[in-house]
Amino acid sequence: MEIKMKLKLQVMAGLVILSACSGKTETRNAEEYVANDAGIEAKGTAADPIAVGEALVKSNDCNTCHHKTNTVIGPAHLKVAEKYEFTEANVKLLAAKIMKGGSGVWGQIPMAAHVDLTEEEAESMARYVLSLDGEKEH
Ligand code: HEC
Repeated sequence: MEIKMKLKLQVMAGLVILSACSGKTETRNAEEYVANDAGIEAKGTAADPIAVGEALVKSNDCNTCHHKTNTVIGPAHLKVAEKYEFTEANVKLLAAKIMKGGSGVWGQIPMAAHVDLTEEEAESMARYVLSLDGEKEH
């Protein structure tokens, strides 16, 4: 029950940010977020780490600071994909950053740490972000 409330708040925060961005309008609704949350519960059976990562990014607080194509507080995830090659080394590098947080790569604003994520979850999220420019892992 409490988790549902938290998720709702995140969804609302996400929508405010989305609608605050004047550029592309991506219409996402609350049902979609809830559906993605359900997707995470099924992650044990999900074969595609990129899809798992996408669901995790949507259900965590990432979209409070990040948008797929627009710079918000943090860099657009598409820009991150363009900056880094999609290699295992970079998956690990970005997963560590997602877990530990930090600053200095894109500016002085720090990214929050995410101590409750497992390494596997953080790596799935990194894979999703790195896939956004269409590059395949190599
Ligand atoms: C409090 C705001 C905030 C939240 C929440 C947040 N980020 Fe970030 N993120 C940032 C900022 C700011 C940067 C740039 C950090 C820097 O310059 O080193 C960043 C950078 C990144 C990078 C690039 C790292 C690099 O070293 O190039 C990735 C990948 C990323 N975030 C993914 C995520 C994911 C996934 C989540 C959700 C688990 C998330 N972020 C949540 C603010 C945030």
